[in-house]
Amino acid sequence: MQQLSVGMVGLGTVGAGVARILTRHADRVARRAGRPIELKWAVVRDVKKRRDADFEGVRIVDDARRVIDDPEVGVVVEVIGGVDAARRIVLDALAAGKQVVTANKALLAEHGPEIFAAARKADRAVAFEASVAGGIPIVGAIGVGLAANQVQSLAAILNGTCNYILTQMTQGGVAYAEALADAQALGFAEADPTLDVDGTDTAHKLAILAQVAFGADVRTADIPREGIDRLEIADLNYARELGYTIKLLAHARLAEGGLELRVGPSLVRNDRPLAQVHGSYNAVRVEGDAVGETLFCGRGAGMMPTASAVVADLIDVATGRAAITARALDFWPAAAAPIAVLPASRTRRRNYLRFLIADRPGVIAAIAHALGDKGISIASVIQHEPTQEDENGEPGPVPLVIMTHLAVEQDLRDAVREIDRLDVVRAPSVCLGVEE
Ligand code: NAP
Ligand code: HSE
Repeated sequence: MQQLSVGMVGLGTVGAGVARILTRHADRVARRAGRPIELKWAVVRDVKKRRDADFEGVRIVDDARRVIDDPEVGVVVEVIGGVDAARRIVLDALAAGKQVVTANKALLAEHGPEIFAAARKADRAVAFEASVAGGIPIVGAIGVGLAANQVQSLAAILNGTCNYILTQMTQGGVAYAEALADAQALGFAEADPTLDVDGTDTAHKLAILAQVAFGADVRTADIPREGIDRLEIADLNYARELGYTIKLLAHARLAEGGLELRVGPSLVRNDRPLAQVHGSYNAVRVEGDAVGETLFCGRGAGMMPTASAVVADLIDVATGRAAITARALDFWPAAAAPIAVLPASRTRRRNYLRFLIADRPGVIAAIAHALGDKGISIASVIQHEPTQEDENGEPGPVPLVIMTHLAVEQDLRDAVREIDRLDVVRAPSVCLGVEE
């Protein structure tokens, strides 16, 4: 069979890993693909940058058109990141009749419908396994392996950078800024790491999983999200005291009236598998109506885990499986999505609340009253003895931590707004989700 020529746009962390597998393990790849896969072109921003030896024989250029216009190229791999240039390259590649492999979650979360409409028009596949959860083959697992199921819910750790930072902070006592710098040096972080730590990258991935698992057509802006960038050490410590670990979680659940989606730092009970997922590892818990609970776990970021997913997609393109899967699964179809996203205010979850309160009679009663008024039931409470005195020698403000039972988000917001208005409350309240 004729070899498959690859034009890869991007030769950074992921691109270099792909080049390494294609050159160092060419025989293995050819055996599994049924034909050789040759990296013919690599497109970069700066052709003068020093590159390592895995690119011997590869034509390195700074103009993606060279690749798109080469009739020998059968597949374009997009691993540059960002949205605008990547969108242009992918659309041009499809229009030129190339198959496409991408690791770009931001692109698909923002332009999935346009990209897949172009792919259908060109009768070409866009394979995107590396865009969610790095090396874990979660798109194939849900789309193909669990095809008999209606997915009921997902809870997932989808950002390796954040999971690495949280692990370093909780287990290694490392400061946030140092842990983030390490994650960048290890190649886990996005070019702009704000996207990692503010929850946007996780929301991009959840938007993709919402399409793959539920057929929902979701933009990132539709997903309520918080990151780990404003998380305080105090909350990591209280979570530990309560028997929980804080993880940045993506959550999706079929609920009455629509799909619940959210991203945020959440408390996970220590005896649950997601609490045991550390470092750059990701994990996705998928509940299907036939299979029940499943858990997929593996490295979610970094050069070789991500390259593993990209090369698997290339092998699928080479064998023709990618084209069959694309037609069968029909991601971001022209037809209207079968399910809408539930407004955040109508979603339900358990909550962890931390208030800084004056140590005076009746304060806890006032807070309990505000919660009770909204029908929110308290599951447990922690308040320690005050350790500081104020300027009058009176006990200083003390943290009060409350775990609630399930509550409707709007009721919770109303209650917390009420509580924050009380003159005995000394700082804006902290509110985190608790994953069941
Ligand atoms: P990276 O290390 O920053 O590499 C980006 C590469 O793209 C560089 O080679 C750069 O050229 C090139 N490039 C950037 N803009 C370009 C343009 N307009 N035209 C041509 N080349 C351009 O990024 P990365 O970490 O490999 O990530 C790439 C993609 O994979 C992103 O979508 C990211 O979200 C996704 N991803 C990354 C990981 C990970 O762990 N890193 C995991 C999963 C998915 P120069 O070399 O000349 O600078
Ligand atoms: N920056 C991303 C992360 C890369 O840390 O998970 C993998 O998508």
